Amino acid sequence: MSTRKKMALVAFLQAQNCTNLPSSWRHPKAELDFLSPGYYSRIGKVLEEGKFHLAFFDDRLAIPDIYQANAAATLREGIRAVKLDPMICATALGYATRSLGIGVTYSTTYYEPFHVARTFATLDHMTGGRAAWNVVTSLNGAEAANFGREIIGHDLRYDRADEFIEVVQGHWRSWDDDALVLDRASGLFADDSKVRALAFEGEYFRSAGPFTVPRSPQGEPVLIQAGQSGRGKQFAARWGDLVFVIYPNLDLGRKQYGEFKSYLANSGRDPDSVRVAPAIYTIVGRSNAEAEDMRAEIEALAKPIDGLVLLSEVLNFDFASKGYDEPFTTDELNGISGIQAFRDRVITLSGRANPTVRDFVEFTRRGTINEFPVFAGDAKTVADQMEEWLGSACDGFVIAGTHAPGSYEDFVAHVVPELQRRDLFRTEYQGTTLRSNLGLDRPKVG
Ligand SMILES: Cc1cc2nc3c(=O)[nH]c(=O)nc-3n(C[C@H](O)[C@H](O)[C@H](O)COP(=O)(O)O)c2cc1C
Repeated sequence: MSTRKKMALVAFLQAQNCTNLPSSWRHPKAELDFLSPGYYSRIGKVLEEGKFHLAFFDDRLAIPDIYQANAAATLREGIRAVKLDPMICATALGYATRSLGIGVTYSTTYYEPFHVARTFATLDHMTGGRAAWNVVTSLNGAEAANFGREIIGHDLRYDRADEFIEVVQGHWRSWDDDALVLDRASGLFADDSKVRALAFEGEYFRSAGPFTVPRSPQGEPVLIQAGQSGRGKQFAARWGDLVFVIYPNLDLGRKQYGEFKSYLANSGRDPDSVRVAPAIYTIVGRSNAEAEDMRAEIEALAKPIDGLVLLSEVLNFDFASKGYDEPFTTDELNGISGIQAFRDRVITLSGRANPTVRDFVEFTRRGTINEFPVFAGDAKTVADQMEEWLGSACDGFVIAGTHAPGSYEDFVAHVVPELQRRDLFRTEYQGTTLRSNLGLDRPKVG
């Protein structure tokens, strides 16, 4: 199999007190030194042993504080109650590894393009060409409030983001590969004819240049995107090298994957050059029965408050303001400014135009492992499920941890060798940069 056809493996990490699963910190085997670099470097070493393509850090620029209009439940229950700067934690992980890709989420709504271009180009140098940027437009009022701003409309966020990336890529492409000369004998440091000032003047952003960072080992960092709305998919299709998705089950996954690949082809991109990876949880036991016991233990740690707090956060709506069985009004549904795909999924799955709070809890299963498909069982059972999805519904997976680093240790020890035996996953890193390990071309300068 070619590099491209084999599966891409990404770990869905957080610079915080829990994994995606808020109750993960309650797990008896969870390590809780998330304020120290050792926590991140230990996870990185496990992933690199498993030849993962990428350790990817998500981000939010706030802790959840929309439920009951305060952060009390978030803090008491540890529901994503800490958010460190993922760039620093990812760098700690990067220094502990040699080949693993390092992905970090940064926002186009609250950061400046020059700052983001410089930070990621620097990360690419410091990690020898392993940097990736997950481009997000940020979604809720708490994030806006932390930056002293008002929340801006959904599609406008994407219009700004398009221009934001033009500026970032413009800076990344402004130094030729051979602009740095470093010749002590002639006294020439850099060839000034090979460095251009960007002088960008757009509708939303302006940035002068010259850029302060020479061209980085990958040429430029890999771009990740996870838009789910119509406008979001358009944005992902334009810019993404890797696209993260949530597919609730295999049937819907096959349908949406096929549609997205056709959309890529229609937008003039080679569909094979963009890897689509759905988020999943894995629970790996020595037998299927052991995995079921592990699953029961994990599910028992979740509390109903976890889901309500995270639904309020992701939909930017206070779920404490309504009765549990009270339907949302049409105005309330139209006013949701967070991830609209969540709302739309609940309307579709419940079959109700005006779903209740209970419908949101039951159909999104937010805050539980069942928010994403769960592949549970012994190594063979988990590998069977991954094989069934690969190629028809995805090109790889974003694996969320039920607890860290334990669930990655289990996956790497048992499932990775099984995938390798089946020739679905590589046995060695192919190159030194993330681009070479993903089979992506090096972008051209200019
Ligand atoms: C696997 C995955 C990871 C994501 N990570 C983040 C993140 O770290 N920060 C963030 O603000 N949004 C994140 N998102 C949300 C997306 O960027 C996007 O806003 C969301 O999927 C809704 O799509 P839309 O913006 O097109 O409505 C993620 C989505 C997925 C599917």
